[in-house]
Amino acid sequence: MYEIRKGKGDYEWFIRAKFGLFIHWGLYSLPARHEWVRNREEIPNEIYDEKYFKRFNPDLYNPEEWAKIAKKAGMKYAVITTKHHEGFCLWDSKLTDYKATNTPCKRDLLRDFVEAFRKEGFKIGFYYSLIDWHHPHFTIDRFHPLRNHPEKEKLNKERDMAKYREYLHGQIRELLTEYGKIDILWADFSYPGPDGKGKNDWNSEKLVKMIRELQPHILLNNRLDLEDEYDFVTPEQVVPNEWPEKDGKKIIWESCQTFSGSWGYHRDEATWRDTEEIIKTLIDCVSKGGNLLLNVGPTARGEFDYRARERLEKIGEWMKYHFSSIYDCTKAPEEFKIPENCKLTYNPEKNRLYVHILSWPYKFLVLEGKAYKEQVEYAQLLNDGSEIKIGTDEWHKKQLGEKEGKILTLPPFKPNVAVPVIELFLK
Ligand code: GLC
Repeated sequence: MYEIRKGKGDYEWFIRAKFGLFIHWGLYSLPARHEWVRNREEIPNEIYDEKYFKRFNPDLYNPEEWAKIAKKAGMKYAVITTKHHEGFCLWDSKLTDYKATNTPCKRDLLRDFVEAFRKEGFKIGFYYSLIDWHHPHFTIDRFHPLRNHPEKEKLNKERDMAKYREYLHGQIRELLTEYGKIDILWADFSYPGPDGKGKNDWNSEKLVKMIRELQPHILLNNRLDLEDEYDFVTPEQVVPNEWPEKDGKKIIWESCQTFSGSWGYHRDEATWRDTEEIIKTLIDCVSKGGNLLLNVGPTARGEFDYRARERLEKIGEWMKYHFSSIYDCTKAPEEFKIPENCKLTYNPEKNRLYVHILSWPYKFLVLEGKAYKEQVEYAQLLNDGSEIKIGTDEWHKKQLGEKEGKILTLPPFKPNVAVPVIELFLK
């Protein structure tokens, strides 16, 4: 329907799936005050490891349960931090001792995760941090916890990025050879320029070649600092105003967002978003052709925080009745004017249009324009499958005035769902 910029990976499932789970989990779940805690508080390896690495023991970790919660919320794929900027690895990497199997939990947390989520039918994504504040050869730059160290220059002379690069390539090779088919590689992130790091530091070109060789179908994000070598873009904590384009083609995109301000578990962060607003965000993404990757930061005991669980459950309640306006859907054809206070999505295979009513109007909804006039055959509420009458009497005609279109006669009060959706069957 739309001309999509094709990358190299297998994207068909991705543009249908629409809704995924992001998981940020690592040692930072112990301090529980943002996954950048090492950077913010300038914590050196010795202290971080002494306090947290030695005590990491998520005894309640049960990935089967995570998968069930996510599935019930309506998510179709899951991306997990195999390693975040702190450098700690959730899997049993042969290239480092800094891994879950060497903490009191003694478990390859990633392997269990992959198995549990695959079993529930999820596509699997690996987030891998290009940044590594623990590796002895990762040079100290503007984000590094030791950036203000008085002997920074001297320390950097002893560091050799070539060695880190080798480690990084080796780790990605492990991840893409030892865990079966991986559907997404989510590399994070580049910050080229003074005192930063970019494609030369990672040797991104060589890395991408290896990634594509090992898993040719894999979808790769756009954070390796390469102009054209990616499958999808990743607007963070925003929904773009319009479907992003490149050279006249629509780009595959996924907005990643948190419930509150932090990605990792943050006990005292209180700015949690309300469920209805998140449902509207998901709708907004789909109405512009994109996906939503919604993040949970599990606790140090290995559970989803109660605030996340509550919200996921409510999202699931909405999805149970409204999945057909989300999965397999995309931006509606331009000829359909967006009604007031609404968002449209469209399923091209079913040829149905979905009107998401963000603010419930009184009595009627105007669908203005020729496209509606000629093509709308039948209308119903998604949540209960009840008919919405298309008004044709004098009173309705009067509401339309000089304009052409159709008028929907609405129930006097908003249906008992977060965001009501009207399904329009088109000719
Ligand atoms: C940022 C942050 C990071 C988070 C990521 C998710 O780049 O560094 O903490 O993992 O965004 O998109």
